[in-house]
Amino acid sequence: MISKKSYIYVLGGLFIMMLLSCKHGKGEYHSLTDKIEAESKNYHGTSISSESYIGDMETIEIIEGEHTFLIPERKSQITSFECAQCHTKPLKELKGVDVKKAHWDINLVHAKEKVMNCATCHNGNDMNNLQSLTGTAIDFNRSYQLCAQCHSSQFEDWKGGAHGKNIGGWSIPRAAMTCVNCHNPHKPKIESRWPSRFNTQKVKERE
Ligand code: HEC
Ligand code: HEC
Ligand code: HEC
Ligand code: HEC
Repeated sequence: MISKKSYIYVLGGLFIMMLLSCKHGKGEYHSLTDKIEAESKNYHGTSISSESYIGDMETIEIIEGEHTFLIPERKSQITSFECAQCHTKPLKELKGVDVKKAHWDINLVHAKEKVMNCATCHNGNDMNNLQSLTGTAIDFNRSYQLCAQCHSSQFEDWKGGAHGKNIGGWSIPRAAMTCVNCHNPHKPKIESRWPSRFNTQKVKERE
C-alpha cells in the first residue's frame, strides 16, 4: 500500500524531473537577447514570396520616398483608353460633333462643383494623361499622384502600408493595391454597408 503522502512525493519528484529535462532551462541564457541570437544562428531568412499572390497581374514598380513597391498596372484596365483615339481635337470642337453625351455613364460625385470638374484631373489637350493642379502630366498608371495632392494623409499612410491593402501580406516583393483599385475617382466615397440580416418581419408578412 502506498500512503497518500508518499504518492504526493512521487508526483512532486516527477514534476521536478520534467522541469530539469527541459532542453533550455531557465538559466541557460543570460538574457533574452542572448537567447534570440543563439536560436537564430541557423536562420537565413524566409523563402516566402508574394509572387504567387500577384499571379498574372501586371504590375509596375514605384519609388516614393523611402518606399519601393509594386502596384497594379491600370491602362489596360481602362475601357476607353486610349482616349486620344477620339480626342483628336480640342474639346470645344468635339462637343459640336456629337449631340449625344460621350461619357454619359460618368457622374462626378466627389468634391463640390466649385472645387472640382473634369478639367481638374483631365487635360483636354492631352487626354492620354491625367494632369496635376499645376498642369503637369500624370501617367494613368500613377494616378495615386493625382489623389496625393489633396489627400496627403491617406497617401502617407498608403505608402507605409497602413491605408489600402498589400497583396500577399508583407512578403517580398511588396505589392499594394493603388487608390483607383478601391475608389472610383468619379465617385470615391465607399458607402457603409450593413451586415445582411434575416428579415423576420418579411417572414411574418408572408405567413
Ligand atoms: C469613343 C470616343 C471617345 C473616347 C475613347 C474617349 N472620349 Fe472623352 N469625349 C468624347 C467626346 C465625343 C466628347 C465630347 C462630347 C461630350 O462631352 O460628351 C468627350 C468629352 C470628354 C471630356 C469632357 C466632358 C465634359 O463634360 O466637359 C472628358 C474629360 C473626357 N472626354 C475624357 C476622356 C478620357 C480621360 C478618355 C480616356 C480614358 C476619353 N475621354 C476617351 C469621346 C471619347
Ligand atoms: C479627381 C480626378 C478626376 C476627375 C475630377 C475626373 N476624373 Fe475621369 N478619371 C480619373 C482617373 C484617375 C481615371 C482613371 C481611373 C482608373 O485607373 O480606372 C479616370 C478615368 C476616366 C475615363 C475612363 C473611364 C473608363 O473606364 O473607360 C473617362 C472617360 C473619364 N475619366 C472622364 C471624366 C469626365 C467626363 C469627368 C468629368 C465629369 C471626369 N473624368 C472627372 C480622374 C478624374
Ligand atoms: C483637387 C483635390 C482632390 C483630388 C485631386 C482628389 N480629391 Fe478626393 N476629395 C477631395 C475633396 C475636397 C473631397 C470632399 C471631402 C469632404 O467632403 O470631406 C474628396 C473626397 C474624397 C473621398 C471621400 C471621403 C469621404 O469619406 O467622404 C475619397 C475616398 C476620395 N476623395 C478619394 C480620392 C481619390 C482616390 C483620388 C484620386 C483618384 C482623389 N480623391 C482626388 C479633393 C480631391
Ligand atoms: C484596398 C482598398 C483601398 C485602397 C488601395 C485605398 N483606399 Fe482609401 N479607403 C478604403 C476604404 C475601405 C475606406 C473607407 C474607410 C471607412 O469608411 O472607414 C477608405 C477611405 C478613404 C478616404 C476617406 C477618409 C478616410 O480616411 O476614411 C480617403 C480620402 C481615401 N480613402 C483616399 C485614398 C487614397 C488617396 C488612396 C491611394 C493613395 C487610397 N485611398 C487607397 C479603401 C482603400
